[in-house]
Amino acid sequence: MKRSIAVLGTGRMGSALARALLASDHRMTVWNRTKDKAEPLALLGATVASSALEAVTSAEVIIVNVSDYKATAGILRDDAVASAVRGKLIVDLTSGTPQGARDAAEWCGRHGAGYLDGAIMATPDFIGTDAGTILVSGQGQAFRDNEAVFRALGGNVQHVGQDPGRANALDSALLALMWGALFGALNAIAVSQAEDIDLGELSRQWTATAPVVEGLVTDLIKRTDAGRFASDEETLSSISIHHSAFQHLLELMDARGIDRAVVDGYGFFFQRAIAAGQLHGDFAALSQFMGKAA
Ligand SMILES: NC(=O)c1ccc[n+]([C@@H]2O[C@H](COP(=O)([O-])OP(=O)(O)OC[C@H]3O[C@@H](n4cnc5c(N)ncnc54)[C@H](OP(=O)(O)O)[C@@H]3O)[C@@H](O)[C@H]2O)c1
Repeated sequence: MKRSIAVLGTGRMGSALARALLASDHRMTVWNRTKDKAEPLALLGATVASSALEAVTSAEVIIVNVSDYKATAGILRDDAVASAVRGKLIVDLTSGTPQGARDAAEWCGRHGAGYLDGAIMATPDFIGTDAGTILVSGQGQAFRDNEAVFRALGGNVQHVGQDPGRANALDSALLALMWGALFGALNAIAVSQAEDIDLGELSRQWTATAPVVEGLVTDLIKRTDAGRFASDEETLSSISIHHSAFQHLLELMDARGIDRAVVDGYGFFFQRAIAAGQLHGDFAALSQFMGKAA
């Protein structure tokens, strides 16, 4: 059965969420602090509410997508809005921390509302497409009861656990991986520019080697999960091999005066592993030195 839905927050992402829901024929009310930004959604069939209270009152499912949880709290923890959420389902797709989601779930429970928390693993152009990924955690029954709503938001919207903090925890883990790649790319650009390598060439070579990197990441996760840190017949590369190639990078960066702040972090972990006698271990052995601050 199609639900009545309110989307609170129609910035770049909130507007994409609202458009996807409108395309799937849900009854939609939208609200945004700056009303102008919500107006274009009226042309697609949404009712534009003048206040958050009006939007919350109009719907069974309230999707929130604002900058951060402080903004969410500022909207929902108004006395009138807090009374109006009773019996409704709040789905906060705003980015945040695991603890922030757990606190929000607890607040909703005290105010008689259901709560699901979501982490959007996509840019707005992916929302409503088959490749749109959103991780959702919290009350599994509420997720199943509203499957049509979630299906409209993307082809890969998954419930990842009862703990409301789980989606945000996974989000942070995946962002750590992404930023590793993005800061690595910035280093690669600096090295290429210093060595007069055309960035188009860098792009072509990266595309050719990306499957190797993907394989290494997958292997690293698998070996860490199994605790297989010693080198064995399936080891793809040891710490020693990486460490020696790493010295070439450092030498080049020093010769060209390239900032080493990011790669010195890698050096720190190489040194910890080597000091612990793991120079010839599998690269995955470095996992043992990342889980706790030194
Ligand atoms: N864009 C992406 O690619 C992407 C990807 C994954 C996750 N996300 C997450 O989605 C959320 C929204 O991102 P966005 O890209 O849509 O940002 P955005 O375009 O900057 O929109 C921010 C929204 O938050 C509202 N807002 C901010 N502070 C508020 C407050 N105190 N009270 C009420 N409303 C407030 C803004 O209202 P006004 O219009 O009145 O300023 C606007 O609707 C963030 O948590 C972001 O991390 C975004």
